[in-house]
Amino acid sequence: MFLKRLECSACGLEHEWSRLQNLCRSCNKPLFAIVDLAAASRTLSREILRSREKSLWRYREVLPLPSDGEPVSLGEGGTPLLRASRAGGTNGVDLWIKDESLNPTQSFKARGMSVAVSMAKYLGATKLAVPSAGNAGGALAAYAARAGVEAHIFMPRDTPRANVVECRELGADVALIDGLITDCGAEIARRKANEGWFDMSTLKEPYRVEGKKTLGYELAEQLNWQLPDVILYPAGGGTGLIGMWKAFDEMEALGWIGKNRPRMFAVQAAGCAPIVRAFETGERNAAEFQDAHTIASGLRVPKAIGDFLILKILRESNGGAIAIDDEEMIRVAREVGANEGLFVCPEGAACFAALKLLRSDGKIRSGERVVVFNTGSGVKYLEAYDRGLGG
Ligand SMILES: Cc1ncc(COP(=O)(O)O)c(C=O)c1O
Ligand SMILES: [Zn+2]
Repeated sequence: MFLKRLECSACGLEHEWSRLQNLCRSCNKPLFAIVDLAAASRTLSREILRSREKSLWRYREVLPLPSDGEPVSLGEGGTPLLRASRAGGTNGVDLWIKDESLNPTQSFKARGMSVAVSMAKYLGATKLAVPSAGNAGGALAAYAARAGVEAHIFMPRDTPRANVVECRELGADVALIDGLITDCGAEIARRKANEGWFDMSTLKEPYRVEGKKTLGYELAEQLNWQLPDVILYPAGGGTGLIGMWKAFDEMEALGWIGKNRPRMFAVQAAGCAPIVRAFETGERNAAEFQDAHTIASGLRVPKAIGDFLILKILRESNGGAIAIDDEEMIRVAREVGANEGLFVCPEGAACFAALKLLRSDGKIRSGERVVVFNTGSGVKYLEAYDRGLGG
């Protein structure tokens, strides 16, 4: 038994892990899982990892699912970390691409959902609901199907078609809402008590971030336990960024890495950049972004519950936040495609575009090791790419 308790990420209040719950009962902020790292290290080490399965369940001891629980798995994690081709405009840096499009349902959302659905099922949930920009819905639909539980997915009406069709074909109940992901979340909040749904909104349940933290473990392992100088991550709710930061602290406590941390950059869309604004004005929380619009649907998150966590990490790590407009995402996606052989999602393309800006501003220096996240596949965004090509 490696999971000790849940702890509020804002006020520190402890919560029992052994029942289904969402936010801190005192301050309504996200809960974090506290893992018994001393106990975990009795059976988990950097050496033992070499002989383990490739999926993220290779880190089983630092994941929250108790040992009598059965992981709900479709082979998530274990994605390639590719060295960018020299011809591919590496901008003079030692550039690596973490290609998350190879996950089940073609995005990194699979990581969070595999762990969160496993826990929800273990704790007795039978009906799961999620507001989604697209990819989280597809992932929940897949893992709920695999677990034999219901999935109720609320997406903005203009979510990319592939995400909508995917959810339906995976057996989920899909509702399209005239509004943004925040409106979808509000609809679930209104109905969940009556319907008996467990709310799987990112950071409003404690375990999606645990799945996402494996990005940090995997990166360290793939880079031979030396973290990169810089990480560029497309932030909507910011769960991957927050999860990686948690993983770095856990790995330091395990004695696997030292004190050095990468400079963490949150990349957003110019049409929805609440974190960039708050970072620039020195705020601790991010105000809701009005009239949010962008083809990078995963970045169309006008208000994130973990905003204060994201901003703290960006500042503590000496990183930053940067906004990219849609046209540039489309342009850069094609450049990356032609140079690297990867059909990236607009969110991933935004990170490549951000690298160029940060290089020309001198915020990333020549020769530094940089990891860019391609969080999903371009195949899900055909409407946007088609339009972008004038088709
Ligand atoms: C492809 C893609 N990239 C990035 C994000 C943003 O992820 P997060 O909410 O963890 O910041 C999403 C979220 O939907 C996404 O689908
Ligand atoms: Zn609290």
